[in-house]
Amino acid sequence: MPVITNIDDLKRLHKRRTPKMFYDYCESGSWTEQTFRENVSDFDQIRLRQRVAVDMEGRSTATKMIGQDVAMPVALAPVGLTGMQRADGEIKAAKAAEKFGVPFTLSTMSICSIEDVAAHTTKPFWFQLYVMRDQDFLKNIIQRAKDAGVSALVLTLDLQILGQRHKDLKNGLSAPPKLTPAVLADLATKWSWGLEMLQTKRRGFGNIIGHAKNVDDPSSLFKWTAEQFDPRLDWGKIEAIKEMWGGPLILKGVMEPEDAVMAAKTGCDAIVVSNHGGRQLDGALSSIRALPPILDAVGDSVEVHLDSGIRSGQDVLKAIAMGAKGTYIGRAFVHGLGAMGEEGVTKALEVIHKEMDISMALCGRKHIEDVDRDILRVPEDFA
Ligand code: FNR
Repeated sequence: MPVITNIDDLKRLHKRRTPKMFYDYCESGSWTEQTFRENVSDFDQIRLRQRVAVDMEGRSTATKMIGQDVAMPVALAPVGLTGMQRADGEIKAAKAAEKFGVPFTLSTMSICSIEDVAAHTTKPFWFQLYVMRDQDFLKNIIQRAKDAGVSALVLTLDLQILGQRHKDLKNGLSAPPKLTPAVLADLATKWSWGLEMLQTKRRGFGNIIGHAKNVDDPSSLFKWTAEQFDPRLDWGKIEAIKEMWGGPLILKGVMEPEDAVMAAKTGCDAIVVSNHGGRQLDGALSSIRALPPILDAVGDSVEVHLDSGIRSGQDVLKAIAMGAKGTYIGRAFVHGLGAMGEEGVTKALEVIHKEMDISMALCGRKHIEDVDRDILRVPEDFA
């Protein structure tokens, strides 16, 4: 077993151990992947200011996101098909997050259902909702989230139409995978993935199968999204979902100040500055570049979170110093899961925590609340 010291180590193991179709699904962006790449590279342009002779005894990364205690300002982002990266992947990731003390967000497009995750965890988790045409399904899934004790609804606004990712089309992405000669040849080198998968019954979209009407073959993500995701989403529908849910609400996928102002006006608990990890509108700004004008536009009217491009604890620290109150990691935890299951997700969280804690100390700060823009050198033309 190689020594794991950073997220890149987990990424390499993920690639080695997981079917190509699912590794590629995770490690790709839409069209030219410009936004996907810049989400990561723009963090590198922000530099940290090293401070000395500051007492660093008794530091803590603990804080709150939407009023809920978190061990560090990092939640696991909703990631579709997590249960294809590893058998029962959502349950494994949720357990790791629960033990670490950070929120886990279950995707609508998960393999394990809301009820599966609730049955295997003891603390409330968050649930991400896509707005569907099937109104009965929509009402029903919101009720299921309430019944399971979900403590925040994350409503995703940037995927009413699916962005095109070339690799998924070329690989024939489906859940479960269709056993073509190419897939079988790939699986021959990844037999432990296959063995684990044979031992679980959870191989399709757990929240959808048996719950939505007119679902003959939900295995194709493309077919399902094209038919079921409601492209008529507007602010009125968002208000209606807020009413229906009645609990803490997070609006995810806001990239421009005017939309951020509209989102804040709904009275939601937080917005997430996110471009879906560069998987939707290729050519959009990186999320860290999009953050400053959004913060200026909304002021203190709503809590602002950020995701897309976070691969280290230093990235988290930079986002917090720029003004975000919380962050989410997508690929960083999926690499951990694909590499080593639940243990790998824990490892990803440990890596990020350690990097954040050490960097925060070397920047002369003891608590998340003390982290501000003063610890950064941001290029003048950044925002
Ligand atoms: C996602 N993301 C996502 N978002 C969402 O709201 N619902 C979903 O089902 C998914 N599915 C999904 C699958 C995969 C493989 C990835 C990588 C991402 C987007 C996700 O929540 C988050 O916005 C990004 O992953 C953040 O970018 P990083 O951390 O992966 O760079």
